[in-house]
Amino acid sequence: MPPKNRAPRTIAVGSPLTLPCGVTLPNRIAKAAMSEQLGEINGAPSQTLTRLYSAWGRGGAGLLITGNVMIDRRAYVEPRNVTLEDDRHFEAVGNWARAGSREGAVMVMQINHPGRVAIGPLNRLPVGPSALRPGTIGYNLRKPRALPLDDIADLRRRFVRSAELAVEAGFAGVQVHAAHGYLLSQFLSPIANQRTDRYGGSPANRRRLLLDIVADVRAAIGPRALLSVKLNSADFQSGGLDERESLDIALALEQLGIDLLEVSGGNYEAPAMTGVVQD
Ligand SMILES: Cc1cc2nc3c(=O)[nH]c(=O)nc-3n(C[C@H](O)[C@H](O)[C@H](O)COP(=O)(O)O)c2cc1C
Repeated sequence: MPPKNRAPRTIAVGSPLTLPCGVTLPNRIAKAAMSEQLGEINGAPSQTLTRLYSAWGRGGAGLLITGNVMIDRRAYVEPRNVTLEDDRHFEAVGNWARAGSREGAVMVMQINHPGRVAIGPLNRLPVGPSALRPGTIGYNLRKPRALPLDDIADLRRRFVRSAELAVEAGFAGVQVHAAHGYLLSQFLSPIANQRTDRYGGSPANRRRLLLDIVADVRAAIGPRALLSVKLNSADFQSGGLDERESLDIALALEQLGIDLLEVSGGNYEAPAMTGVVQD
C-alpha cells in the first residue's frame, strides 16, 4: 500500500535507469544469470556463447547478466562453465562482451566459486567453509575440505582478478554470486559454516568474507564500473540464512557502494530457486 496522501509512483519498464556508478541501463528489463555451459574445454567463451549473447542483445533487455563464470579452473559448478583467472582468453571474453552490448544492453559478468557444490568429475578437491557434505539429493558430491585460513587471501585475489579482467575486456561490471548455496552463500549459512575462526560463528563473522570480497572488487574496478551482488533473501531452510540477516547484509553491501542487488533464494539442499520450497 502506498503511504497516505501520496500518489503511487509508476515507472515505465522502458525508461532508462542510471546507477550510482554512472552506467545507464536503457530500460528496466534484465536477464538473470543462466549457466549456459557453453565454454570451450579450456574455459574460454565459445563462439556459440558469443552468438547467443548477440541474439539476447538484439532482444532488447537493458541488462544482460552472464551465466556464472568461474574464478578458479580447479573448481567449477558444471562442466563447460567459462573460467576467467588470467588473460589467456582475453580476446574471446572481449568479443563476448561486445556481442551482448552492441545493441545497447549493459553486459555484466557473474563471477562465482562453487565451494562444496562443485558438480562434475573434474572437481577433485572441493572446498567449503567446513568439511561438511551438503545433504543434496541427485548429485554425487564429494566431501569438501574446510577452506584453510591461509587460502582466504588467494580466494579474495581470485575474485578481484576475474572482476578486473572482465572490466578490462569490455564488460560494464560484475555480479558477485553470493546466493544459491555456492561458496560465499555457504559462508553466510549457519548450517554450512561451522568455522570457529573469524569467518564463522556470529553473523558478522559469516558475512566477513563476502563483504571483504565486495570491498576488494570495488577498490579494484573503481567507482565507474558496475558492481552487483546476488544474495539469498533466505536459504528457505530451517536454521539457514533468514530474511532478517539477509536484510542486514543488504544494508552492509549498500554501504560498500554496490550498484545493484539481485535477490533470490534457496540452495541445493532447499532449491527454492527452482521453485521447490520445503514444508
Ligand atoms: C538453466 C538455468 C541456469 C541458471 N544458472 C544460474 C547461474 O549461473 N547463476 C545464477 O545466479 N542463477 C542461475 N539460475 C537461476 C536464475 O538466475 C534465477 O535466480 C532463478 O530462476 C530463480 O529466480 P529468482 O532468483 O528471481 O527467484 C539459473 C536458472 C536456470 C533456469
